[in-house]
This record gives sequence, C-alpha cells and structure tokens, in this order.
Amino acid sequence: MSVNLLVASSDEHFREIIRENLLNVPNSKVLSEYTDVNTNLYIRVLQDLERHPDAALVADISFDPEAGLAALQKVKQAVPELYVIASNFQADGETVLACLRAGASDFLTQPLKRLEFREAITRMEATPRRVSTGGSRLGKIYTFIGAKGGVGTTTLAVNFAGVLAQRKQNSVLLDMDWTANDVAMHLGAAPQYTLMEVGENLSKMDQALFEGFVTRDPLGFILVGPPDALEQRGYFTEPMFREFSTFLVEKYQAVVVDAGRNINDDVVLGALQASNTIFLVLTQDYSSIRNAQRYLAFLMRMGFTQDQLKIVVNRYQKKHDMHMASLEQITSTLNQPAFYGIPQSPAFPASLNKARPMISDRQSAGELDRIFRSFVDKATGVKKEAVGKSA
Ligand SMILES: Nc1ncnc2c1ncn2[C@@H]1O[C@H](COP(=O)(O)OP(=O)(O)OP(=O)(O)O)[C@@H](O)[C@H]1O
Ligand SMILES: [Mg+2]
Repeated sequence: MSVNLLVASSDEHFREIIRENLLNVPNSKVLSEYTDVNTNLYIRVLQDLERHPDAALVADISFDPEAGLAALQKVKQAVPELYVIASNFQADGETVLACLRAGASDFLTQPLKRLEFREAITRMEATPRRVSTGGSRLGKIYTFIGAKGGVGTTTLAVNFAGVLAQRKQNSVLLDMDWTANDVAMHLGAAPQYTLMEVGENLSKMDQALFEGFVTRDPLGFILVGPPDALEQRGYFTEPMFREFSTFLVEKYQAVVVDAGRNINDDVVLGALQASNTIFLVLTQDYSSIRNAQRYLAFLMRMGFTQDQLKIVVNRYQKKHDMHMASLEQITSTLNQPAFYGIPQSPAFPASLNKARPMISDRQSAGELDRIFRSFVDKATGVKKEAVGKSA
C-alpha cells in the first residue's frame, strides 16, 4: 500500500522533516504542502483529495493552535473520513484531547522523533483510508493549454466558458497567458481591472469586491486576465494564484483557464496543479504532436493521471494530407486516445471577426455548435456517452 501525505505547516523545517522521514518509508510521498493552517485549508485538501482519495493529512498546529484546531475542524466537516495526524510541541492531555475532538486520528509530539513518526505511519497504514469527495460542492477548474502557439487554445477556452454560462453555471474565465492576453480580444472586451488588482486585493478578497471590479461577459461569465501593456507583468506569483483559486472554487461553480502554452511558467504550473481537468490542445501537425508528447510526460511526472489529462485535437480533419497525422497515429504516439476532435471550421475565425464566441450564435455556427456542446457534455460528465464527433 502506498503512503501519500498532504502536509500543512507554516514551518518549512517541519515540512522538510516529514519529507526526510518519508525517505525511510517504502512507496511513500508528500503530494502537497500547505504553508497556511487556516480556515481555507479544507479547500486545498478537498482539491487534492479529488486527485488522490487515499491521501492522509499531517497538520502542524503549533504556530497558532487555536486557528489550527479550527482549521482541522473545518477539514473534518468537509471530509469526515480523512485520516489526520495532528502535531504540536505541547503534548499534555488537554492539547491532545483538543486535537482528537477536532477530528484528528493520531497525534505526534514535536520535535518529531523518527521512531514515533514511523509508528504513526504504521498505525495509519492499518486503518482503511479511502475518502469520497463525491459530494464536494467546490467549483471545478478546467484548464486549456496549447501544445503549440496558434492551435486554438483561447478559442476553445472562451467557447467552453460560454457554454457553461449558458447552462447557468456561475463561471469565471481566467486568462493566464501573460504574453498573448487574447481572451479579451476574442470577447470584444476591454477590462479596466486585471489580475494585478486581484493580486493587490487578495488579503481582503470577497465576492462583492471581486465582482465589483471584474468584467462580466454578456453570456454571463466573469472574465479576468493580465494587464494589456506587456511591461506591466507586475507581481502575480504562484502562491497568489493558489490563494485566488481557493477563493474562486469556493464561490463559483466553474473556473475555465486559458493557460496559453508556457507550461513551465510558475503561475501556469500552479494553475495546472489546481485543475481538475487539463485539456491539452493540439492539431494534427507533427510538431504539435511531438510537443504534446513532451507536455504529457512532464505532467505525468508531476503526478497527473491519464484521466485528468484530456487530449483535444483542434482543427480536426478526417480527410487530411500526408503532412498531418490521423487520430490513430496521435493515439499511438501519445499512448492515450484523443478525448475529442473539434473540426476545422470557418465559423471560428468568423466569430473572432465579430469578437463574440462561436457558441453565442447557434444559427450561423450550425453543426459546429452541436459538436462543441457535446464536447462540453463529455468534459463535464453531463452525458456518459458523448455523441457527435467524439474521438
Ligand atoms: N477549429 C478551428 N477551425 C478553424 N479555425 C480555428 C479553429 N480553432 C481556432 N481557429 C482559429 O485559429 C486562430 C488562432 O486561434 P486562437 O487564438 O484560439 O489560438 P491560440 O492557440 O490561443 O493562439 P496563441 O498561441 O496566439 O495564444 C484564430 O483565428 C481562430 O479563429
Ligand atoms: Mg491564445
């Protein structure tokens, strides 16, 4: 059996000791580390449990025991079956009892001792630990990343958010492509406020403040992206994205991210890690398939599983020339079937000319509109069997 831990502690040293101790435990690893043990901890834990339902939590409450216990309580309310090891320097009866009452399954005294840690892991291994987050009411994050520039990443993200909004999902479309910043252009919007203002106001962020300064598309979703001027990259870091996404999944049903194609940008990586589903967008040309192969290998090394990574072949043409690959060739090269094929269609550039998503004009788009909606159905699990041009 494998030992997968989520470690919450504001103390870097504590997190490091856990990592070191795990080196002696076969088949074990730290899946995620959280640097804050506060009331938002449960959101991060829930998100990670969706990917790793067998994980357990180690929570160091020593920095602020009162806040730590409150955080533990919220975690246990959200996921009652989660195995939690609490830890503090104080280990008097009252402290330990308070942890157990807050829902901890076990307790470790600090400074951590190797043997005691090992024994705690053995006790944990003896306890059945699979949790179910099926009832999670957190919003889902869908991220589109292009295996190459120009493959249609922004087009797909914008239309995806549009369909969700038409289905009355309270949705947010995030443009995380700092260089292209195309989402606003696709939507004919000129947002006054951007991710810079989000970053500056994170500590006091609430829904009223957020909706007070971001732009709402006529289709109903909220749109936020980078500043237009390239020199204003400014200060928006991966931890800031983490905090922002924690806010978003608590308040909105769906978050759609246009991640551009820079997979090793820190903030993009943070977005990928927070995502429930990643759509890797490629076309049938060999260079985009080769890149997709590299991206997939990288994402697998980061701990993503095949069912979280969905291959979307855009500009799909069944009849193609010899310079393009067939779906079978794509499947065998990537060792994974394509999730969906979105056909090549002049309706996309035509909609871009009007600066409105293709799905906002069902009549002009015709068949393409239907195919795109089936893609959204399949991606969101609305229908078990996708219809149309499912690849
Ligand atoms: N399935 C399709 N059929 C025809 N044209 C398409 C299709 N998908 C996208 N396009 C067109 O391709 C162009 C590039 O699309 P888009 O801006 O979405 O790509 P991108 O991958 O986001 O590019 P960038 O790397 O610049 O961010 C646009 O003109 C768009 O209308
Ligand atoms: Mg783009």
